[in-house]
Amino acid sequence: MIKIGIAGTRGLSTLMGLKAIEDVQIAAMCDLDEAHLNEAAEKIGGDIKKYRVFDDMIESDIDAVIISTPMQCHVPQAIAALEAGKHVMSEVTAGVTIDELFWLTEVVEKYGKIYMYGENYIYDPRVQQIKEMVKQGVFGDTYYAEGMYLHNIGNLFVYPNGKTSWRSFWQCGIRGNFYPTHSVGPVMQWFPGERITEISTYSPGIYNELGLKQDSGTTTMCKTATGKLLQIRVDCMSPRPHCMDYYHLQGTKGCFNSRSHKDDIDRVSFIGEDSPLHEMKWQKLDNFEIYMPDRYKNATQEQKAAGHNGGDFFIVEDFINAIRDNKQPELDVYKACEWTAVGLLSSLSVTNGSRTMQMPDFRKNMPVEEKRITL
Ligand SMILES: NC(=O)c1ccc[n+]([C@@H]2O[C@H](COP(=O)([O-])OP(=O)(O)OC[C@H]3O[C@@H](n4cnc5c(N)ncnc54)[C@H](O)[C@@H]3O)[C@@H](O)[C@H]2O)c1
Repeated sequence: MIKIGIAGTRGLSTLMGLKAIEDVQIAAMCDLDEAHLNEAAEKIGGDIKKYRVFDDMIESDIDAVIISTPMQCHVPQAIAALEAGKHVMSEVTAGVTIDELFWLTEVVEKYGKIYMYGENYIYDPRVQQIKEMVKQGVFGDTYYAEGMYLHNIGNLFVYPNGKTSWRSFWQCGIRGNFYPTHSVGPVMQWFPGERITEISTYSPGIYNELGLKQDSGTTTMCKTATGKLLQIRVDCMSPRPHCMDYYHLQGTKGCFNSRSHKDDIDRVSFIGEDSPLHEMKWQKLDNFEIYMPDRYKNATQEQKAAGHNGGDFFIVEDFINAIRDNKQPELDVYKACEWTAVGLLSSLSVTNGSRTMQMPDFRKNMPVEEKRITL
């Protein structure tokens, strides 16, 4: 039996997925806010231990924690949990400073416990379907992609009780792309084996009247080690409807477009016998279900009920499998740090004339003299 502790009520998004896996028990819940804690424990049901202090929860006999507290808590809580011998799945983003990211990799390497980055957008069935199409060469060589996260969060700066929320500081109290990984993570699935080596960020300025420092949208250009280009846009300030999964991918043989409007559809287009270069047409992505990974095609009703057509089940399944196999998951600490660092470097870039920033290499056992930001 694997016993899980959940910190922060957002962690309940994993509830249905965890309940659908055998020999897994949600044994503990932790939240500083007692009312939230009681409400969450009731939702979880069964015999669950409640804690207001995270350090008390990790002294209990749980095997793993799901950290879903505000962003600035992720690294301190992940380090405390790993030191206490617990496996960790962390919400996005991985941390709030570059130094924190180095500390995190060092502690994961030292204790050898599983660390998984809970980037749920990667588990969207379409992202997985395109990943498989890339793998099978349908788009040819892929060389350019776009990902956008457009989500006005003006209602989240103040809690219902009137207190200022952490989002006013760690998200919209800073410059640059503060929330990169919902876009970078999915897009990087389509460039197998690549890593991001440099970024630069552009901003149209600050137009909000709330006195917050966050740009009214930023565009970050990321280059990979072999020169592939990613364009990542985040705008959580401008007045507009949600569009949290706008993607585009271009390869030598074709492309993919998703705009995520309710009245729109995901489209692909390829060069083929019926579709020569100058007569290429859009086709529905749905017509290419054959490329959907088997576990999505064969998802049970219970797995699908976890959310996102099974995506919310498969993310926790991968975490539990990593623990059982004692093998770091695909979404390991190095990817967590690189994708998070896109945002942290973007803050430096945008405040320095969109200067290009070099991505530190978060590889295993990196020498200490290389653990720094270079221009
Ligand atoms: N993956 C996604 O799609 C997604 C969506 C929303 C939020 N998030 C992430 O989830 C995290 C939480 O976001 P949220 O919107 O739920 O925030 P929130 O402020 O609504 O909730 C945070 C909860 O954590 C509790 N908390 C704060 N500090 C704590 C501590 N030290 N120990 C224990 N509990 C503590 C608070 O009492 C609160 O109940 C953030 O990291 C955010 O980036 C991810």
